[in-house]
Amino acid sequence: MIEEDRNSRDYWNKRVKQHKSNEQRMIWYGDDWKHEAINFITERILTTFEGCTALDLGCGFGRWCHLFYPHKYLGVDFSSEMISLAKEKNSAYDFEVDDIKTYVPKKKFDLIFEVMSAGDFALQTSEFVEKYTPYANVAVVCIHPTETFIKFIDIS
Ligand SMILES: C[S@@+](CC[C@H](N)C(=O)[O-])C[C@H]1O[C@@H](n2cnc3c(N)ncnc32)[C@H](O)[C@@H]1O
Repeated sequence: MIEEDRNSRDYWNKRVKQHKSNEQRMIWYGDDWKHEAINFITERILTTFEGCTALDLGCGFGRWCHLFYPHKYLGVDFSSEMISLAKEKNSAYDFEVDDIKTYVPKKKFDLIFEVMSAGDFALQTSEFVEKYTPYANVAVVCIHPTETFIKFIDIS
C-alpha cells in the first residue's frame, strides 16, 4: 500500500511506479464515470484553444498535450516520475519538474490550465487563478469533474 498523502511528491512518484501500465487507475482510481466526464469536459474546453500556447500545471503524464502543438505546449509537474513518463510517452513535447505552488513561468502563455491538480492538491482554485493570471494572455482554466472554472483575461 502507498501512503495516502496526495499532496506529496512521493505519493505521485510511487503511484506512477505502481500503475504505469494502467493510466486510468493511475489517475482516477478506477472511477469510470469520472474518467468519462473529465475527458468530455476537458476535450470540449481545451480544443477551443487549439493553436494557442498552453501551460499545463500538474500535467501528470501529459494526457492533454496532444490537444496542442508540441512547440506551443509546456507541462509542469512536481513528480519527477510523472515527468519521465510524460517525456517517454510524448517525446515531441516539453515538460519540466516543478512545484506549482512556487513555480514562476518564464514567459506568458495564451492558456494556463490545470486538470484535477491544483484545486484538489496544490492550491485552491482562487489561489491558482490569482497566481497565474499575470502570465496568461487569454484564459486561466481549472477543470474538475464537479466544477470547471474559466477566467478570461480582460484586454479592454
Ligand atoms: C489527478 S493527477 C492529474 C494529472 C493530469 N492533470 C491529468 O489530468 O491527467 C494530479 C497531478 O497533480 C500533480 N501535483 C500535485 N500537487 C502538485 C504540486 N504542488 N506541483 C506540481 N504538481 C502537483 C501530481 O503529481 C499529479 O500528477
